[in-house]
Amino acid sequence: MTLRSLQHIIPSIPVSDGAGVKLRRSLGQSQGLRLDPFLMLDEFASDNPDDYIAGFPPHPHRGFETVTYMLAGDFEHQDHLGNKGHLRAGGAQWMTAGKGIIHSEMPLQKEGRLHGFQFWINLPAREKMKPAGYRDIQPEEIPTVALADAQVKVVAGEVITANGPVTGPIQGISTAPLFLDVRLDAGGSFEQAIPEGHSAFVYPYAGSLLIGADGQQKPLPARQAGVLSNGTTARVSAGAGADGACFLLLAARPLGEPVVQYGPFVMNTREEIEQALDEYRRGVLA
Ligand code: FE2
Repeated sequence: MTLRSLQHIIPSIPVSDGAGVKLRRSLGQSQGLRLDPFLMLDEFASDNPDDYIAGFPPHPHRGFETVTYMLAGDFEHQDHLGNKGHLRAGGAQWMTAGKGIIHSEMPLQKEGRLHGFQFWINLPAREKMKPAGYRDIQPEEIPTVALADAQVKVVAGEVITANGPVTGPIQGISTAPLFLDVRLDAGGSFEQAIPEGHSAFVYPYAGSLLIGADGQQKPLPARQAGVLSNGTTARVSAGAGADGACFLLLAARPLGEPVVQYGPFVMNTREEIEQALDEYRRGVLA
């Protein structure tokens, strides 16, 4: 077993996207701050409707997948394929933009707390032009694993327990993503196997963390993406504080392909981006 250490930190910064939704963006705030195949990670967390009410009116995507995960509040998704989905607290949405999707993501609430995440994960060149797909994952479809000092929601990938593996509802993605939402008790620790060579990062959204082997731990403050070194296993402990910590753990197989991004289009070459823009302008993207 080789423990992964905390290699570097990408702090989140406040940004505004969609029609004026206030977010915190860590990965993806600039072109250099990605972690192949992860392109972006946004957290939206607010009790103030002014921060989210405008939502994300119809907009396109091509060439990658968007994953939304909700902790509190309600969003509605609609797309040009006729899919309509209700994202609620504890649920997720896995959308494969493929060759093109035009969708809207609008809050269903006029007040109250909205808290969730959206990350973008790249598709390999051979899958960028596949048909768009959409999957709504209801909260009850996401298994929770209770460990000695952690509760783990398994959205994608696998957690090994004393009773065998527990697998998340998202399967068949070629980058083999792992997507866990972990709640650590105060003073608690959590270990997770991650295949060697896969990219991995941790994002604490409540409380702070300590990453790595006992005695060599490095601190990771809340709302910063902690990129892990290579290895076979991640070890994450709750930082000081009586409330424990909550974090996302994401990992996936890197693609090692060129990334050319223009806003919501992520392709391998400039020509492919120009083609996407041209098709979008002509109304034939999706
Ligand atoms: Fe979108």
